[in-house]
Parts: sequence; C-alpha cells; structure tokens
Amino acid sequence: MDGSLVQPAEAAFWTRAQTHMLRFGGDFVPFVPVRAEGAFVYDAGGRRVLDFTSGQMSAILGHCHPEIVATVRDQVGRLDHLFSSMLSPPVVDLATALAAQMPDLPKVMLLSTGGEANEAAIKIAKLVTGGWEVVGFAQSWHGMTGGAAAATYKAGRRGYGPAAAGSFAIPAPNAFRPRFPGVTWQQELDDAFALLDRQSTGNLAAFIAEPILSSGGILELPEGYLNALQAKCRERGMKLIIDEAQTGIGRTGLMFACQRDGVVPDLLVLSKTLGAGLPLSAVMTSEAISDACDARDFLFYTTHVNDPLPAAVGLKVLEIVERDGLAARAASVGDRLKAGLRGLQAEFPWIGDVRGRGLLLGVEFVDEDGGQRRSAAALSDAVTDRALELGLSANIVRAGASGGVMRIAPPLTVTEAEIDLGLDLLWQALKAVA
Ligand SMILES: Cc1ncc(COP(=O)(O)O)c(C=O)c1O
Repeated sequence: MDGSLVQPAEAAFWTRAQTHMLRFGGDFVPFVPVRAEGAFVYDAGGRRVLDFTSGQMSAILGHCHPEIVATVRDQVGRLDHLFSSMLSPPVVDLATALAAQMPDLPKVMLLSTGGEANEAAIKIAKLVTGGWEVVGFAQSWHGMTGGAAAATYKAGRRGYGPAAAGSFAIPAPNAFRPRFPGVTWQQELDDAFALLDRQSTGNLAAFIAEPILSSGGILELPEGYLNALQAKCRERGMKLIIDEAQTGIGRTGLMFACQRDGVVPDLLVLSKTLGAGLPLSAVMTSEAISDACDARDFLFYTTHVNDPLPAAVGLKVLEIVERDGLAARAASVGDRLKAGLRGLQAEFPWIGDVRGRGLLLGVEFVDEDGGQRRSAAALSDAVTDRALELGLSANIVRAGASGGVMRIAPPLTVTEAEIDLGLDLLWQALKAVA
C-alpha cells in the first residue's frame, strides 16, 4: 500500500470530523476503518492495515472473533443490562473462572474500564488501611478518572489543579537508560522508599504498579522487583495493587504477568484484554480484604457494575485463551517477533533497544549519530508514519529520557505469517526513512 491513506471520497468525513470531534490526546490517525477482521482493519476502499496494537492494546483475540460475535449476539438478545444489585449467571461464572486463575483472590467485582477498576482498587486500599497516600511509578499510566489519574505520572498532570492529596511517585527501573549507572535496582528501590518515608505523613494506603510499564515505554520490572516491592508494602501496611490492563490474560506468556515472580497482590486489576476489546474490567481481591470492605461499608455502586453482557464476553475470552493455549502461543510467537526485531536492530543503528515479554514488545529509537543528525523522536515518528502508509499500525510512546519507543502488541491469535509480514513492513519503513 502506497501514498496517503486519506481517500478523496473521505474528504467530507474529515471535514465533519474536524468540525465535530473533540480532540482528547493528539491527532487522529489518517485512516478510516470501516471493518476489521483478525489482525487487520480495512477502509472503505478495501485497503488493509495490520493492527500491531490490538486496537487500544486490547483486542487479544483479533478483531471480530467469530465466537465473540456469536456471544454478543446471543447475550444481548437474552439478558443485556440489569439493576446493579442483581446478579446473573454470566457474572458469577466469570468471577468463578477468574478466581480459578488466582485462587488467593477469590472476590471479584466487574466494571467497564481500566481507570474505573483502578479507581475502585485504590478506594478499597484506602478504606481498608484507613490511609490515603498512594504511590505509583513516575512513568505510570492507570487511567483518566480522579484517583487513577492522580496515580498516573506519564502524562496529563498539568492544567487540572491539584491531584489527590498524598500522591507520590518513585522512578521505575530502566535497564536501558539507568538513572544512576552502576546502581542496582535494589539500591534504587531502597533509596526511593527511604525518600518516600521522609515525605509520608504515616498514611500510606497503596502502591499501584504495572508489571511492564506500557505507556511508560515498555519498561519491564526485573525479575524479583515485584517481590521486593511487595515486601516494602508489607513493612508499611500498604496494599499492593497490580494493574494488568495490558499484561493480563496471556499476553506476556502467562495468564498474569505477576505470576512470573510468584507474586499475589492484594488487589489485581484487569481491563483492556479481559474484554478483548469490549469494555470490561475486574478487581480481584482476597477474602480478608473483602471482609474488611464489608465491615466498613465499601461503596462503589455504578450503572454497569456486574452487567451480564460484557461478563459473557469475558467468560468466552477466558475460555478461548485457555482452550487454544494462547498464553503459550504469545510466548512462542513473541519470541519469533522479538528475534525479528533484534535482526532489525542489528541493521539499523538508531534502534537502541528491543525489549518486553511475549506479545508486548518495545523498540526504542535513539538519536542518529549521537544527535548529530536526526533525533530519536523524529526518526520514530517518520518510521511510524511510513509504516502506516505501507499498511502496518504500531504506536510511539515517549516517556522520560526516551525520544520514542514503538509499542508492538499484536493479538495473541496473530499467525506466524502475519508476524513475518509485520516485520517486513517495518523493515520497509525503516529502509525508507534511512
Ligand atoms: C496499565 C493501564 N492501566 C489502566 C489504563 C486505563 O484504562 P482505560 O483507558 O480503560 O480507563 C490503561 C490505559 O491505557 C493502562 O495502560
């Protein structure tokens, strides 16, 4: 596919879009999908784009998976939405299925978005500890609602007045760009908590962490980090919230990324991948925390809590991921993709790092000739634009000192041929920019 993706027939569409669509985070992509199937999205002219972001990092079964389509059709025709205090079979079935994956966290609440579920988890942590101070990573993204946004440091803090009182950040470890070369992550973590202890008023409630900081530039917490973080939390009576919006439901090669380290958090939050593209999220916690919530009259009463339609979808997603061995598939296909990306790194000197796990990978661009020529930001933008013209969608995130990290997270159902096609399109884009 060559040339601009905006078709002449779409001129009126873009005029109306410019007139009526409120911008919420940068520019809109100059490609107008009208349908999607598997790993591809298509415009009205039949031009296809390989979707290496799984929509918004969510569509782990690819687009319009036939069994999900059938589930939605069937469920919406029988039982769609209910009075919030009514429980229905798909909801209890999904809670049971999730608990089977993480038996130490058998209590489940179903919500719609990641921000909303983090909001609930943070509120639970505050209620049961009696504290209100919440700590996150300086490169984190947990959502756009009040409490979740207060724990989000990657972007969006300026211009909205004060964040929640008691919001603190510590740096996430970054092996490619260490803040203090020669200092281990253990030393950095000790130092960060020493600083936190100086600032805290003694009301620490929670630490919220992504096992791989995705919007923060695919920063993988090293093995053992979550265990050490959990120990720090326990010493201070804080709850550990693990946000697996992007890493959960098989994407990193295990059902949950925290299972690599054998860590069971106090609260596990799932979103994006749980509904495989449909709005569904979950908060999972222990019996003890659930009892403490009951004792303190926990309130999180929302319109779509425990709705049967998205729950039926989540149940089907879990069934397919387990039945088709998609977590193991993410590991093996991810290895193929990573090896291909490492091959590109060997060819193009301004690819500085390839990292991530399973099918959540990052390609970090660095300045060309040490900054004498093009910057990492300019290069990563040019490659992404060219890739889209060629028919590959990936996206660039910028965080901290990095000029641009291309985030690659195809559906877990992606075929090996599609992985190879994506690598070839990326190679063509890199060549064109070189
Ligand atoms: C790790 C993580 N948590 C939470 C969220 C927020 O989810 P939502 O946009 O569904 O509110 C995101 C969104 O990108 C995310 O990446």
